[in-house]
Parts: sequence; C-alpha cells; structure tokens
Amino acid sequence: MRFTLASLAALATSVAAQSSGNLTASLLSSISDRDDVGVFKGLLSQLPTLIDDVLSDAKNGSKNLTGNGQVTLLIPNDVAIGSFLAEYPDTEDLQAALMPVMSYHVMAAPLKGTNFTQPNGLTIPTFLDGEDESGTSYNLRAPAPAIQEQYGQGATGQVLFAKLEGLDSVKLRTRQGDGSGQSSQSGLRSGMGQVAMMDIVDGEWDGGVYQIVNAVLEPPAPCSNTIRSLKDSLSALDTALNKTDLWATLNTTPNVTCLAPNTDAFQSAGNPQDDLPVDDLTQALLDHTLHSPTYTNYLVDGMKIATASNKTVRVTLNDTGIWFNDAKVVEENILTNNGLVHVLDRVMTFTDDDSDDGSDDGSDDSGSGDSSEDDDSDDSDDDDENVAGVLKLNGVLVGAAALVAFALL
Ligand SMILES: *[C@@H]1O[C@H](CO)[C@@H](O)[C@H](O)[C@H]1NC(C)=O
Ligand SMILES: *[C@@H]1O[C@H](CO)[C@@H](O)[C@H](O)[C@H]1NC(C)=O
Ligand SMILES: *[C@@H]1O[C@H](CO)[C@@H](O)[C@H](O)[C@H]1NC(C)=O
Ligand SMILES: *[C@@H]1O[C@H](CO)[C@@H](O)[C@H](O)[C@H]1NC(C)=O
Ligand SMILES: *[C@@H]1O[C@H](CO)[C@@H](O)[C@H](O)[C@H]1NC(C)=O
Ligand SMILES: *[C@@H]1O[C@H](CO)[C@@H](O)[C@H](O)[C@H]1NC(C)=O
Ligand SMILES: *[C@@H]1O[C@H](CO)[C@@H](O)[C@H](O)[C@H]1NC(C)=O
Ligand SMILES: *[C@@H]1O[C@H](CO)[C@@H](O)[C@H](O)[C@H]1NC(C)=O
Repeated sequence: MRFTLASLAALATSVAAQSSGNLTASLLSSISDRDDVGVFKGLLSQLPTLIDDVLSDAKNGSKNLTGNGQVTLLIPNDVAIGSFLAEYPDTEDLQAALMPVMSYHVMAAPLKGTNFTQPNGLTIPTFLDGEDESGTSYNLRAPAPAIQEQYGQGATGQVLFAKLEGLDSVKLRTRQGDGSGQSSQSGLRSGMGQVAMMDIVDGEWDGGVYQIVNAVLEPPAPCSNTIRSLKDSLSALDTALNKTDLWATLNTTPNVTCLAPNTDAFQSAGNPQDDLPVDDLTQALLDHTLHSPTYTNYLVDGMKIATASNKTVRVTLNDTGIWFNDAKVVEENILTNNGLVHVLDRVMTFTDDDSDDGSDDGSDDSGSGDSSEDDDSDDSDDDDENVAGVLKLNGVLVGAAALVAFALL
C-alpha cells in the first residue's frame, strides 16, 4: 500500500485508544493528545514493530546504558515527516529507510530540558550504527571514554550535537547541506533547514522520554559528501582536496576532525588550491586534519591537539569564540560519519614550536577522564597499505596518542 499524509493522519485517530502495555502502545497513548505528530502516529500503527525493532537491544538489556535502557525518542513533527515520506512512495523502501533513520532519532539516555542546559552544548550518542545499502558506514568513529562514562559502555552509536537556543528549544546539529549534496540521503531534507530544532516537551512513555523535532535528521555522511554539500563555503577546500590523494583517507579513517578553511579564507591566503604544488598542498591539508573528533563541548582553552602532519594545534576559547591557532571557527560540529568538520575563517598558520613534541601544557583534563591510552598498537600492521602509506597516516596515528595526552574522544 501507499502511505499518504491523509491516510496516516486518519489512521492516527483510530489507534489512539489501544493500549496493551507494549512500548508502541505506550508511546501512542502518550502522544495521543498531540496534534503535531499525527503522521508519526499513523506510521506507527502501520509499522507496529518499528519501535520494538529500533529499541530491541535496549529493551532486552544488551545495550548497557546508564539510563537503564531508557531513551529519548525524537519524534519528527508532521511537516518534517511529511516531506520525508514523500521521498518513499514504496512501502518496502520506506521500511528499509526508516530503520537507520529512526535509530538516529533515539538518544541513548532519557534526556529532559534540564539535561540540555550546558552552555557548550552536548554530544549525544544515538542508536545509529551499521552501514547503508551501499556499504557506507554510518558510524566510523569510536566512542570516547567521556561519552561512555556518561551514557554507558553500550553508547557506541553515531552522535548528535545539541545546544540550547532559547528557553524551550534546542538546536540539533547533524550534518549540514545546502540541499544539493550528493549523498543518497540528500533528498530527505528537501528544503528543510540543515540545523534541526528540537522542542523540549519532556513527554514520558514506557521507553523513557520523547521530544519533538522539526526535521527528519539525516545520518552523517562521509567527509567528501559533507564538504561538497557545503559548496557555498567550502568549494575551494574541495578543489584543494581533489588535487591531492587525500579524499580516500579522509573518508575512511576513523576519528577525524577536518578543520576546513572556507573559500574566503583560501582567497585571503592567495588561493593555494590553484597554485601550490601538490606536495605542499597535501602537507597544508594534513596540517588541518586532526586525529580525534573534537566535538566543541569537549574543548578546553589551551588544549593542544596533534595534526595528521605531526604538528600541534592550540585551542583557544575566549569571548570571541573558538579558535584553532589563529583561525576562528565560523561553523562548528558539522557531523560526518567518521567525526566532524569545523569551518574556519582562515588558513591556520603554525609557529616553529608547533611541531615540537609539545608536552601537554596542563590542560589535559577536560573532565572526560581519558588518560593517554595506547589503543593504537594494532594500527601499524597495515602500513604498507597504499593510501595510508603515502600519507603516513598510520605512523602519525601511533605518534599522536603519545604526543598529546589530550582528553578528547
Ligand atoms: C503493541 O501495540 C500496538 C499498538 O496498539 C499493536 O499494534 C501491536 O500489535 C502491539 N504489539 C504486541 C506485541 O502486542
Ligand atoms: C538483544 O537484541 C539484540 C539485537 O536484536 C540481539 O542481537 C541479542 O541477541 C538480543 N539479546 C537477547 C538476550 O535476547
Ligand atoms: C540528565 O539529567 C538527570 C537529572 O539531572 C541526571 O540524573 C542524568 O544523569 C542526566 N543524564 C545525562 C546522560 O547526563
Ligand atoms: C578512535 O577513538 C577512540 C576513542 O578515543 C579510540 O578508542 C579508538 O582506538 C580510535 N580509533 C582509531 C582508529 O584511532
Ligand atoms: C556496563 O557499563 C559499565 C560502565 O558504563 C561497565 O563498568 C560494565 O562493565 C558494563 N557491563 C557490561 C556487561 O558490559
Ligand atoms: C571535486 O571532484 C568531484 C568528483 O570528481 C567533483 O564532483 C567536484 O565537483 C570537484 N570539486 C570541485 C570544486 O571542482
Ligand atoms: C581570542 O583568541 C584568538 C586566538 O588566540 C586571538 O587572536 C584573539 O585576539 C582573542 N580575542 C580576545 C578578545 O581575547
Ligand atoms: C613527530 O615530530 C617529532 C618532533 O619533530 C618527532 O620526534 C616524531 O618522531 C614525529 N612523529 C612522527 C610519528 O612522525
């Protein structure tokens, strides 16, 4: 059958009354009075196992979360889910698409308004994991000790970044796109804003909490799709990366932050993407690549972070914002499947002492509880692998953990 907005909204009224003590029934009963999620109600009644499927690990206790398996379900409102459903006229396609998407709408803890009040925002693991039909991973990053401490060992899924915007609304960062992105998911937004807003409604149901979002959240994509979808600000970076061999590595290396000078920044630097020899360009881009996903709420002033080129970048947090060396972050926490992108207003410059072995300057405690760990010991067994060999990423990976005892992810 074909789902339409009208048919789903009509169904919603007929299912509200049922309540048999299962999760779906509990959710339906809890949202029965809401008039902004009628389409979602209809969808649940058409796919009564959806919630159970998405939550199965949490339900059967195999997820090991601090919230005891209780979660926060983000329910897209009617406008948001309407444009999503329009992309999937075929029921089977819709069901296949819904599993990962709904998994990304499950936060791995019951979170209410008070949980979102941190001024620096919150990195929140979801249930999204695995890969899409083309074999692209949804979650090519590993959870940080800090995240697992807060949410539990089972909180291994891809993250959302949330920041309070007003009194009752939270900005949710997924990835950004201008709607022309080349990922297979790019149509999902179809004109929606790239930053979703979450209404804090603190609804309760047997599965935990629910909140309402104004968009269907797009799972993070590889760096290349993400950077290309931001062509208004990052086309010069794309040009630069196209000239080098770096894309394959950027797309497939876990735990990456791309510090991405915007096109104005490239212009101010004399358009190195056009003129610089490829070797120098490669070097400059590796200078802007970090081996940890630096979600901004984990950054502390004075922190030093190793680059893929074995230099150190110094983080400054001051009244004017977040800085990496002399470059200011103008767009933060654009999530990719293997980490994230921060857009910078200039190409970073490095001073001579940036490449010393920079013993950490005492700012290593961001409260994340990470002590320098030698978790990279098995990374070196493929250093004859082509791309990584050329870029010496493996070597740097090994060095990076020892170089900076940064308390990141
Ligand atoms: C749970 O409740 C939903 C909605 O009322 C219903 O469609 C479904 O059959 C129920 N599932 C079980 C296992 O009882
Ligand atoms: C819990 O659910 C997961 C996912 O469906 C499954 O792999 C696992 O075997 C289940 N565990 C138990 C104890 O049922
Ligand atoms: C959310 O807030 C509650 C109440 O303050 C707290 O107990 C809980 O630990 C918080 N959850 C997370 C994941 O921080
Ligand atoms: C990614 O980061 C996590 C958390 O710090 C770490 O455990 C894991 O080993 C890292 N993976 C790689 C390949 O660096
Ligand atoms: C569950 O997580 C806690 C910490 O989050 C950890 O100490 C414990 O060993 C984990 N249990 C299992 C069975 O994985
Ligand atoms: C970079 O290469 C990709 C793939 O060939 C292409 O689609 C894209 O337009 C190129 N970017 C620029 C800015 O030329
Ligand atoms: C903030 O830090 C940046 C980077 O170090 C610096 O350039 C800027 O002047 C600082 N601004 C203020 C107001 O301290
Ligand atoms: C990084 O640079 C330092 C200082 O120049 C050097 O001692 C170290 O061997 C380098 N590490 C790697 C992995 O290249």
